[in-house]
Amino acid sequence: MLKKLVMGGIDWIDTRIPMTETWNKHLAQYPTPVNFNFWYFFGSLAMLVLVNQLLTGIWLTMHYNPSAAGAFASVEYIMRDVPYGWLLRYMHSTGASAFFVVVYLHMFRGLIYGSYQKPRELIWIFGMLIFLVLMAEAFMGYLLPWGQMSFWGAQVIISLFGAIPIIGDDLTLWIRGDYVISGATLNRFFALHVVALPLALVALVFLHIVALHEVGSNNPDGVEIKRKKGSATEEEKGQFTFHKQYSGKKDIVDAIPFHPYFTVKDIMGVSFFLICFCAVLFFIPEGGGYLLEAPNFEAANGLKTPDHIAPVWYYTPYYAILRAIPDKLIGVVFFGGSIAILFLLPWLDRCKVKSIRYRSWKHKLNITQFIICFIVLGVLGTLVATPLYTLIAQIASVGYFGFFIALFIYSKNEKTKPLPTRLTH
Ligand code: HEM
Repeated sequence: MLKKLVMGGIDWIDTRIPMTETWNKHLAQYPTPVNFNFWYFFGSLAMLVLVNQLLTGIWLTMHYNPSAAGAFASVEYIMRDVPYGWLLRYMHSTGASAFFVVVYLHMFRGLIYGSYQKPRELIWIFGMLIFLVLMAEAFMGYLLPWGQMSFWGAQVIISLFGAIPIIGDDLTLWIRGDYVISGATLNRFFALHVVALPLALVALVFLHIVALHEVGSNNPDGVEIKRKKGSATEEEKGQFTFHKQYSGKKDIVDAIPFHPYFTVKDIMGVSFFLICFCAVLFFIPEGGGYLLEAPNFEAANGLKTPDHIAPVWYYTPYYAILRAIPDKLIGVVFFGGSIAILFLLPWLDRCKVKSIRYRSWKHKLNITQFIICFIVLGVLGTLVATPLYTLIAQIASVGYFGFFIALFIYSKNEKTKPLPTRLTH
């Protein structure tokens, strides 16, 4: 009786919107390479963290007061008086850092397996746009508690726009909505943080997935699972039939349906992530001053500059590049360039082989030095700039940009290993 009722209900919906069709096409029967490893957890984890940010954000907004006079006190009120307000706030602030951890690892996976290469350039571009919006979202969110670091961090970053010739001063005025950072700035950042940018994020994630499902997933071997129609043997095709959108055009080899195989696998990733996330949330929610900085427990004061202004850890590699260059304008150009160059990755890498597994020692060395430079810059960005640290930051900045230049040069005629015809696992 109940089953009949449910099936009837599903039927009713299906004749009006393609619910079952969409479920099968994009989840249950999505052909997934058999050799996905733990690096493939981070896409679904990014979605989980996004939902966490949206939900906790909505509840925080119910108690937050977006005004220069009330913001700081309303955050204290959330932490002390709102039932479970402390949990909501820490889930959101720790969630922001978790978002960047997950997204950085997700991008690193794309980097080592060449997932940005043809035909996945648009997946990468949408990903990069997500990354940019995410950085803006976190930056604007950080002003909202109206603490000392909120105020002075925003002051430093907004003043960077002042280095742009001719329009610089007008641009900073336009961004702030005032001659100094004030309630007007707080109000517009609040509007962008809670409405405009989350909408843009959700829309971009949607496009990211649409682009992914059009061409299909890459995998740790970087060998395509789609072959010319009629070219694969029955053994290669395996026992599974996939949704007609995927199997109608091409032969699919070495793939299994997303559900139940990867829904179950992803649940394992989610469990592991939640253990780590809860450990930070309940035991070190401020992350030793790296997730929530000490000066931010003091209300914003435009007359008192904190001793050391440093951005949150996820911006520090780019901030270190900015500080490494003595000229402000050139620094700003390299600061922007360090992110902009990532957009070009699909065209800078000219190698026909995608995965690091089958690429040359030069490529492995290049990626290793890039990651070392990125981490070194990240650490230096949190420290006070001494002459020695500035020199190290300059060397690491050369390594950062050198990665892209070297890649462009050697990838054209790179000596690669032969690719397997079937996926290895
Ligand atoms: C809110 C942030 C993001 C979400 C929710 C998200 C979600 C996803 C999901 C669910 C997948 C498929 C599963 C997987 O391959 O792991 C995926 C694949 C992919 N994402 Fe993202 N992503 C985000 C940000 C980014 C960023 C910042 C980049 C890079 C700039 C990126 C690049 C890619 C690439 C290249 C793939 C294809 C990977 C492959 O097939 O090997 N994503 N993403």
